[in-house]
Amino acid sequence: MAEKREQATYGAAAFAGMTGSLPTQWPRTIGPNAMKYLQEVVDSGLQSDMSSRFERAFAEACGVKHCIGTPGCTPALAMLAAAFAFEPGDEIIVSPVTDYGTIQGLVRENYIPVFADTASSTVNLSAETIEPCITDRTRAILVVHKTGLVCDMDPINALAEKHGLIVYEDACQAVFSEYKGRFAGTLGKAAGFSFDSEKTLGSDVGGCVVTDDDELAERIRFVGHSRGGEMAPGFGRIHTMPGYAFRMPHCTAAICLAQLEIIRDQVAHRDRMIRLLSQLIGEVPGVTPLPIPDYMTVYSAWMFGMNLDPAQFTCTTEQFARDLAETGIPGAGTGRYYLIPAACTFLEQNARAGVYPYSQPPASRSYSYVGACPRAETFLQTWIRWSTFCARYEEEHCELAAHIVRRVADKHRR
Ligand SMILES: Cc1ncc(COP(=O)(O)O)c(C=O)c1O
Repeated sequence: MAEKREQATYGAAAFAGMTGSLPTQWPRTIGPNAMKYLQEVVDSGLQSDMSSRFERAFAEACGVKHCIGTPGCTPALAMLAAAFAFEPGDEIIVSPVTDYGTIQGLVRENYIPVFADTASSTVNLSAETIEPCITDRTRAILVVHKTGLVCDMDPINALAEKHGLIVYEDACQAVFSEYKGRFAGTLGKAAGFSFDSEKTLGSDVGGCVVTDDDELAERIRFVGHSRGGEMAPGFGRIHTMPGYAFRMPHCTAAICLAQLEIIRDQVAHRDRMIRLLSQLIGEVPGVTPLPIPDYMTVYSAWMFGMNLDPAQFTCTTEQFARDLAETGIPGAGTGRYYLIPAACTFLEQNARAGVYPYSQPPASRSYSYVGACPRAETFLQTWIRWSTFCARYEEEHCELAAHIVRRVADKHRR
């Protein structure tokens, strides 16, 4: 008999039943042209070029040469991992606080994810935490801009250049965030985005890769859209690489295009509201919102996050989060599962058992994931977040959220 397990849910399904006195993004506000674009797809008898239209529009909005649409960020990053064509056993340094989608493609290509620890007081890695992870097998650095906060990219790019490494970005949570006036997703060789229903530019599912590199873009389309297939004269389709069929559906593109038309105002609003919310919640003793570095010219915040000072409260982080949810903040919860070296239990199992690519060769040394990122682990033990923070927040909602945090804090204060 099949083993019964509680399976994880994603997108709108993961938010089902979440209520409270603060707004959530559900049901999503959809750009006014969505039905027109969807109708075009249907009326064209599926001969629409909607996916290419979205690709052109998103590339233009980001100021990059190429956008390659996908059904999500997990496939976008998988396409990139395949297109880079590193060797099995090569190492990719990656942010430890993220989603499984960040590393899925690395695992499938038999690369070895090496998690750099987070920088002090935040959820992102930094050049200082990356440097000790660099070995002669390192090929790339995959940074994640968690919550929408962009990693400090100039020192990371300088470090990568010194060692001849590729830098690329998981910009899922940071669409139109700006680092020193430059968009997240345009700060390395390429980037993956998610347009999953819960994300800032939310469609049903969806995602893309962006890059300025013509050759890489061509390879991504070949491996990711054409399944590594090309036309051989006198024969027909031959497959010269094991590729994927990760094309963005036209109906998804129609909704993405409509969402793109309304996103920039929403991002500007999110930026204003997250700064106000952080300031107000920062006034509650014992509670510290994620610091917003000065280089963040626009913080396209997807979720709000804050830490508790355990010395000031009698309750656990879980209890505090539960009380926030019960007092009116929908979806308030802890975030330990974002620590991917701990959450992906198969990594440690495979590393211990020497399963390929952890066999030697191709791995050059032994790996262990348990306790690999102590700072991130400690940080997440006292971290509370809610991803129902959204463009519907107004000043009164920031005040209410801060009031709820203060009430719960005072209830549990030592
Ligand atoms: C940081 C990050 N990376 C990757 C993903 C995966 O994106 P998708 O659901 O579009 O495959 C997510 C989605 O939650 C994410 O937040």
